[in-house]
Amino acid sequence: MSRQSTKTDNKSIANKIFIRKEAIKNLNEVKVLDLFAGRNVLWNNIKTDKYFGIEIEKNKGKNLNVDVRKVFDNLDLSAFNVIDCDSYGLPFDLMKKILTRQDVNKGTIVFYTAISYQFTGLQKEIKDYIGFKNFYHKAPTLFNEKGIEFFYEYLANLGVKEVIYYSVHDPIDKHYGYFVIN
Ligand SMILES: C[S@@+](CC[C@H](N)C(=O)[O-])C[C@H]1O[C@@H](n2cnc3c(N)ncnc32)[C@H](O)[C@@H]1O
Repeated sequence: MSRQSTKTDNKSIANKIFIRKEAIKNLNEVKVLDLFAGRNVLWNNIKTDKYFGIEIEKNKGKNLNVDVRKVFDNLDLSAFNVIDCDSYGLPFDLMKKILTRQDVNKGTIVFYTAISYQFTGLQKEIKDYIGFKNFYHKAPTLFNEKGIEFFYEYLANLGVKEVIYYSVHDPIDKHYGYFVIN
């Protein structure tokens, strides 16, 4: 998998908005499914033709207030050409679902935020994939720090050919990126 990365120390929101505007600039229509919509800050700054946000916390923005993991399997992904996964941590489970669902349109742009930190635990999906579930608990911080590298390996294994991202170290490693469904 090829990786186009840019190191940055700009403010994260500005970088997130910039990378989204760049990625969607050639789309005829922009139909966004925002899985971790928060206060809709990112997409309120970008022109869209359709926007549907999901957010677990009430009174945060104009969203459906629900745990995205409870509804994801019932969402019609074919109605969108942009899926935004601006979560905290490393969403291995949702990446696997997005990359294996049959109803995702080719050309859909998937945005992600990948954050790895020694105290952020890794999901079962990646422990199973790497095969370290039997010894992970002996030195979790060692594995957790490598979370972003595992994330890219996982995406590549699911068929992603290229990712484009900004990386920030503040001092936690954060990547703001995207890939296109092929
Ligand atoms: C980094 S913020 C997203 C900010 C958003 N992109 C914006 O423009 O305002 C992550 C959001 O995900 C929400 N969240 C965390 N777990 C969630 C879940 N399981 N389902 C839905 N939303 C969740 C948090 O409450 C938080 O608002």
